[in-house]
Amino acid sequence: MKAIEVVKGIYWVGAIDWDIRTFHGHTYETRRGTTYNAYLIVDDKIALIDAVYGPFYQEMLDRIKEIVDPKKIDYMVVNHIETDHSGAVPIIMELQPKAKVVCSAKGKEGLIRHYYGNWDFQVVKTGDTVKLGKRTLRFIEAPMIHWPDSMFTYIPEDSLLLPNDAFGQHLATSKRFNDEVDETIIMDEASKYYANILWPLGAVIKKKIQEIIDSQIKIDMIAPSHGVIWRKNPLKIVEAYLNWASNETKDKVIIAYETMWGATRKMAQAISETFMEKGIETLIYSIPDTDRTDIIADMLDAKAILIGSSTHDNDMLPNTAGFLEFLKGLQPKGRIAAAFGSHGWAGGAVGGINEVLKKAGCLVVEPGLEVKYTPNEEDLASCRRFAEGIIKKIK
Ligand code: FEO
Repeated sequence: MKAIEVVKGIYWVGAIDWDIRTFHGHTYETRRGTTYNAYLIVDDKIALIDAVYGPFYQEMLDRIKEIVDPKKIDYMVVNHIETDHSGAVPIIMELQPKAKVVCSAKGKEGLIRHYYGNWDFQVVKTGDTVKLGKRTLRFIEAPMIHWPDSMFTYIPEDSLLLPNDAFGQHLATSKRFNDEVDETIIMDEASKYYANILWPLGAVIKKKIQEIIDSQIKIDMIAPSHGVIWRKNPLKIVEAYLNWASNETKDKVIIAYETMWGATRKMAQAISETFMEKGIETLIYSIPDTDRTDIIADMLDAKAILIGSSTHDNDMLPNTAGFLEFLKGLQPKGRIAAAFGSHGWAGGAVGGINEVLKKAGCLVVEPGLEVKYTPNEEDLASCRRFAEGIIKKIK
């Protein structure tokens, strides 16, 4: 695929990673692949906004070469130092050692610690600008969206925002713009990205979006560094971020469980039937059989989270422990949460789950529900009453 002109004089010169299925050291399932979007701006001066993951450098270089000689790049703007975007920066700097590396103060620190290059850095802060000719690059620091070094680049002449990871999606496609791809797929991947990476940063995100709204900059297009460019109705994704960052939930329950011999599964089924009978949207996942990132994505707008596990060695089963460790890091604050599970001679899983859910910032309904061995009719009635107690909290 050739370089794609995003607006006159600004080109997508990134790379499409069709094959990647796990990202971030196996913490994120990328079932639809991803893209690493880099943007070349050709004016009196030439700027490259972000690069690509190292193994894809040739794909990016080939696209740049269709437009200009990479040795003519004046500014290498690094909005974010994570290697999926900065991996090919040393190649650019090798070809053009005179280019200025434009980044935040934390970006400079991180780039030095990643690549140890003797580069000419230009550290920028919010409001700083670089004039390219007819066009201006204006920078907006965005620390912790999602790393301390993160920043956005804004081009006022085109009302174009280049926010790196923010508003992106892990989606490999031959199309570059949101109006060319099924919106359901885009939003599915955008919400999954938010849930699994940005969820704990809601307060920072809300503040940053408000700051951008208050600055009254015009945004006609948002070109993130993963997935498609928001050309049609770009503010739709900004509004979605504001809703997610506000922790907006609906009457929806996620039941995620792990069972050893089927008793905890029976409990999950009895509990779920009560929710469904009351018309509450309910999704049930077997933790070891489902990708963690999909369960997390569904939890983003759920009012209640129920976690079930058999007891093993006086605690929850190991897949549940791994799942909850990840969930704890995402801090799903304000969600109603409860634990259930079956045990043999002694319990322990429910207490262990409760402790982690509390650390995750959930509103834990204690003590949860434990059943000895296989649930009998009386136990199943307890499961139904347990669900009714959660419904009262939801309502
Ligand atoms: Fe897409 Fe934080 O890197």
